[in-house]
Amino acid sequence: MNAVAETHAVAREPAGPLIHLDDVKKVFYADEIETHALSGVHFDIEEGDYVSIEGPSGCGKSTLLSILGLLDTPTDGRYWLNGTAVEELDHSQRARIRNKEIGFIFQAFNLIGDLTVFENVELPLTYRSGLGKQERKRRVIEALERVNMAHRLRHYPSQLSGGQQQRVAVARALVGKPSILLADEPTGNLDSRNGEAVMALLMDLHADGATICMVTHDPRYAEYADRKIHMFDGRIVDEETLLRLREEEDRRIAEQARRGRAAT
Ligand SMILES: Nc1ncnc2c1ncn2[C@@H]1O[C@H](COP(=O)(O)OP(=O)(O)O)[C@@H](O)[C@H]1O
Ligand SMILES: [Mg+2]
Repeated sequence: MNAVAETHAVAREPAGPLIHLDDVKKVFYADEIETHALSGVHFDIEEGDYVSIEGPSGCGKSTLLSILGLLDTPTDGRYWLNGTAVEELDHSQRARIRNKEIGFIFQAFNLIGDLTVFENVELPLTYRSGLGKQERKRRVIEALERVNMAHRLRHYPSQLSGGQQQRVAVARALVGKPSILLADEPTGNLDSRNGEAVMALLMDLHADGATICMVTHDPRYAEYADRKIHMFDGRIVDEETLLRLREEEDRRIAEQARRGRAAT
């Protein structure tokens, strides 16, 4: 049984998609400025899906992924993960479910510099009760073998290339056997050769059954996914709408520039 199902006393839906977002909104308040990062997002991910999220900078992709990964909470709307209403969980239930159900891969790798490769990958398992040292070791080595990094156990992140660091970060995301891997521009800090290696790894994991949701700024990498989602200005839009909105924005910017020139 998964961690969500084990959690009692929270609302459950009958078997449905792995992830279900219903009219999710996120507003940030900073320096008296309100930013509507997400304005009513409806979104499902089924088990075994490989979904990519594309859209211009600032359209809310990372905000959406952080909410999916339980790193942030919506201002409004509902999020069901494995049939559990996430907003009804308390802080420690959320932390436990995040640890068990979510594997997060960041653009900047986010490995801990003074821990070895082994210790970095082991870290999520140390928060789990009932896993002995030997079992942790077995799982860490298995995860590192999966990403071809088992020969670097005692290295520190600074002794690895960017591509190697990201592979270790993928192992850390995998080691707890999560329900979903969330990746926020996982190739953004890599050259194209290493970027392609990380994408090939994600493809392999997907072929082995992993559910993946990846944000990417690179349309070539979005092609790896089974399903492409486009975002614009805090909403999910279809491809045609996205093209139209982009053209309108380009026209508006060109018009502003023209007026600016006319005024000087
Ligand atoms: N912690 C925050 N505080 C205030 N505004 C934020 C915060 N995080 C994101 N934003 C704003 O929300 C919007 C969406 O940001 P983000 O989700 O990071 O976009 P993307 O990942 O698509 O580039 C942007 O306008 C950004 O400036
Ligand atoms: Mg982002």
